[in-house]
Amino acid sequence: MSRLTNKVALITGAGNGQGAAEALLFAKEGAKVIATDIQFENVTAVVNNINEQYPNSAIALKHDVSSEEDWAAIVKAGVDAFGPITVLINNAGIQATKRYEETDIEYFRKAMDINAWSQFVGIKILAPIMKQAGGGSIVNIGSLASITSVGGFNSYTATKGAIEAFTRAAAAEFGPNGIRVNSIHPGGVETKMLTDTVTTNEMREAIISMIPLRRFGYVEDVANLALFLASDESTYISGAAHVIDGAMSIV
Ligand SMILES: NC(=O)c1ccc[n+]([C@@H]2O[C@H](COP(=O)([O-])OP(=O)(O)OC[C@H]3O[C@@H](n4cnc5c(N)ncnc54)[C@H](O)[C@@H]3O)[C@@H](O)[C@H]2O)c1
Repeated sequence: MSRLTNKVALITGAGNGQGAAEALLFAKEGAKVIATDIQFENVTAVVNNINEQYPNSAIALKHDVSSEEDWAAIVKAGVDAFGPITVLINNAGIQATKRYEETDIEYFRKAMDINAWSQFVGIKILAPIMKQAGGGSIVNIGSLASITSVGGFNSYTATKGAIEAFTRAAAAEFGPNGIRVNSIHPGGVETKMLTDTVTTNEMREAIISMIPLRRFGYVEDVANLALFLASDESTYISGAAHVIDGAMSIV
């Protein structure tokens, strides 16, 4: 038996990077996967690749995570396709690099809507379904920015700090219903978000020299942790913030 047999997993931001890696790994481990992204072409390509290897195990849906209407529509479509959703990976997100003096309310709100409100809505809409199914596992993707700061990135830090906090609140609220809620806090991970932010070789080398394991994370590193938290191997782990950063934050 595979590690996610009989589980139905909704993964947001699955058109690229970490979400795409999680969608592939979860299907490999026996889950039915509802892969969503605002970039529909990308998530369709991810799902086509998955279904070639693991037939009929995934569907692709267009989804703006900041829209509550979109959430309602994709959850309905997902449940219609595969039955009750018992795993949610709240992964979609954007970077926000403006400094305090350059940040206005629209910029801050956009980051909050896409990174934090989106995850809050996902929990709100899926908790009743998981309750009825007898439980579930929710994994919210934060960042090292939830916990530490390097200056700048202030809106991003606010969104990611909120994720760490409401993960605890949700874990406390839904624990009696058998729903576990955890957050993952990656350091730098080799995706477009990283290359858009760390733009020169000098920057890369300077940051890598501060990471005890001397590399950025791979998408598979984070996907493996998400898999563990989604699976029944972690049934007593909830309300916890899981740092995955090559030990960067401890030095
Ligand atoms: N890459 C890193 O270094 C790093 C570090 C810490 C945390 N994270 C977090 O990891 C998560 C995944 O990021 P990634 O590294 O795979 O980056 P990525 O840019 O490769 O993927 C992000 C995905 O989110 C999608 N997305 C953006 N806005 C959306 C919206 N409104 N609705 C739906 N989907 C939307 C994008 O289309 C994309 O597919 C994010 O929450 C990010 O903040 C990334």
